[in-house]
Amino acid sequence: MSKGKVLVTGAGGFIGHHLVKYLKKKGYWVRGVDIKNPEFEETAADDFKLLDLCEFQNCQEACSDVEEVYQLAADMGGIGYITSYHAVVLRNNALINLHMLEASRKAGVKNYLYTSSACIYPMYLQKDPKVKMLKEEDAYPADAEPGYGWEKLFTELACQYYTEDYGFRTHSVRFHNIFGPLGTYEGGREKSPAALCRKIALAEDGDEIEVWGDGLQTRSFCYIDDCVEGLYKLIQSDYLQPLNLGQDRLITVDELVDIIAKIAGKKIVKKHDLTKPQGVRGRNSDNTKLRQILKWEPEISLEEGLKITYKWIKSQVRKP
Ligand SMILES: NC(=O)c1ccc[n+]([C@@H]2O[C@H](COP(=O)([O-])OP(=O)(O)OC[C@H]3O[C@@H](n4cnc5c(N)ncnc54)[C@H](O)[C@@H]3O)[C@@H](O)[C@H]2O)c1
Repeated sequence: MSKGKVLVTGAGGFIGHHLVKYLKKKGYWVRGVDIKNPEFEETAADDFKLLDLCEFQNCQEACSDVEEVYQLAADMGGIGYITSYHAVVLRNNALINLHMLEASRKAGVKNYLYTSSACIYPMYLQKDPKVKMLKEEDAYPADAEPGYGWEKLFTELACQYYTEDYGFRTHSVRFHNIFGPLGTYEGGREKSPAALCRKIALAEDGDEIEVWGDGLQTRSFCYIDDCVEGLYKLIQSDYLQPLNLGQDRLITVDELVDIIAKIAGKKIVKKHDLTKPQGVRGRNSDNTKLRQILKWEPEISLEEGLKITYKWIKSQVRKP
């Protein structure tokens, strides 16, 4: 018997596609919505609709007859993309998010999960590669990343207001660099782990690859299976404030290159390009609250996750 009907928006994208598979395994009836089909694999959704969620009527159609909504649809990409298109990214995402909130509330949805980002954290706290870990309450006084980050923060607030004013249950999760197979690895929207896996898969032993920035910028990275597990646990919980979801192991981008090169069994020379965007200097997730609220935290190691991701990207780029 079905556990209930849920909607996953952005189901043609990286995290949404994995989440649909996860929820199907759990026994849910799942509707997926996106402006595109999943790129690398058939969807597992019971019903998949191609709809532009910038339009309110399309959000109403997407939300009809479901009890829970996972709102993942967003116009987004890696650092190259989100730093180049502030206006269009902000407009598209604000339209999607405001319309999805209102359509879900009106449709009588019981539980709503919004996917925010570590990009909401103040730039002034992320100027040092040895960054202090970012706690949820560090978000204010706000100084979010231009465009994409400010819109995410605005929507977190919108979710909070909907909960306060209408008693509509909303959860917001702040992702810290999610990676894994079946995600974009080329074309300009890819994130650093996927881009580096692609470059190393295409390189010969001893080759040079281009690394954006000086390689000393730091991040933490969380594997996709942990991400979808965390989303599910959060929507089950009674916690209705923004919560971090990521790993708290901080590494430099150069170290990330070294780990992937080791997995690939190749000697790789790094050529740093200082003209390319590199984002904030350092960013890490403080998981104190995550552990407290969900009694859980991401457990798949970076090496383990990268092994699977590298193998998949290599199989894609080396296709005859
Ligand atoms: N991947 C990460 O590391 C990360 C980090 C922080 C936040 N997030 C957030 O998590 C969510 C999912 O991210 P992802 O990595 O799977 O990205 P993704 O780009 O793979 O997926 C987003 C999906 O939204 C769809 N979309 C865009 N505009 C739409 C529209 N108008 N109507 C319907 N669908 C539309 C896209 O086609 C895409 O398939 C996003 O909200 C993103 O901002 C992701």
